[in-house]
Amino acid sequence: MKTLKIFAVLIASVILFAFSLNHQQKRDVKEIMLTEEDADWAAKQWNGTTLADLKSGQEIFNNNCDKCHKLKDPKKLTAEGWQKIVPKMAEKKKINLDKKQEDLVLKFVITAGRK
Ligand code: HEC
Repeated sequence: MKTLKIFAVLIASVILFAFSLNHQQKRDVKEIMLTEEDADWAAKQWNGTTLADLKSGQEIFNNNCDKCHKLKDPKKLTAEGWQKIVPKMAEKKKINLDKKQEDLVLKFVITAGRK
């Protein structure tokens, strides 16, 4: 009986450990939380950027950028990488973002990519 308990605890620990590893590798991109600190950082890059701008960018990103592939983690690319790819993605007919939306998405991914 005792061996069984030890065995059960062992199995539970292995499962928990596997979960925590998985969690560290993959964050839920849809749930990235931006704060005032991110907005301060963003305002230094793009004068006048607010937390509301970043959040609209995130919303546009969440609602459009998973139409053809899974949402890409903002950490995946550097700022330069995003500057190249976002205009290409934004003009895809399936979503066809306007310049303002494209700009908000870009600010969001670059800011969220620092985290
Ligand atoms: C109409 C379909 C479509 C939509 C909508 C779309 N993508 Fe893509 N995306 C693709 C395809 C196809 C590729 C791979 C080929 C390429 O690079 O063009 C790709 C590749 C990418 C890559 C580079 C691949 C990598 O893993 O390095 C990134 C980053 C990306 N998309 C981000 C976005 C973002 C951000 C949006 C929203 C603004 C978006 N995509 C919307 C089709 C789409």
